[in-house]
Amino acid sequence: MTPTSTSDRRLAIVPGSFDPLTNGHVDIVLRSAGLFDRVIVAVLVNAEKTPMFTAAQRVTMIEEVFSGHSNIEVDSFDGLLVDYARRQGAAAIVRGLRAVSDFENEFQMTLMNRHLEPAVETVFMMPAEQYTYVSSRLTKEVFRLGGSVHGLVPLTIERRMQASQAAARQK
Ligand code: PNS
Repeated sequence: MTPTSTSDRRLAIVPGSFDPLTNGHVDIVLRSAGLFDRVIVAVLVNAEKTPMFTAAQRVTMIEEVFSGHSNIEVDSFDGLLVDYARRQGAAAIVRGLRAVSDFENEFQMTLMNRHLEPAVETVFMMPAEQYTYVSSRLTKEVFRLGGSVHGLVPLTIERRMQASQAAARQK
């Protein structure tokens, strides 16, 4: 597959809902930043009807997490991921694969994205073993039920989660 001449072969998009960003996501983004010249962490707008954080809040929090990395940018997108990737001139979409259970959905998404836009490849990376069980969904569930999310999400995100819970309790 040859990317179009306008494609930046070295730009990767790491897309996701990131509600919230976990340490598993951080691991994948940092690995991507080591392989590609530029990485855009792209937050999907309106993925869930009742997200824990708005897309704008997620972008701000993720920017904070990666503020020390000059080749990592954060953005939000709506609509088809491949349209966003094409607009940005990305060569690749990077997704994390934690376990075999992730595979089926990722396989379908990859082939659909390739059908829609053959010039954008999808690349998979495995996070470090200690993050193989970490997901945004489970992290939120644990947090909502009073469990500790320390070590599952970056400290700044943990603090934001606590602050948003405290604010919700005061309402
Ligand atoms: O963090 P998530 O929820 O696993 O990320 C899923 C995401 C954002 C990558 C996926 O839902 C997506 O690409 N949505 C954009 C809409 C789209 O392009 N749909 C067709 C893809 S097959």
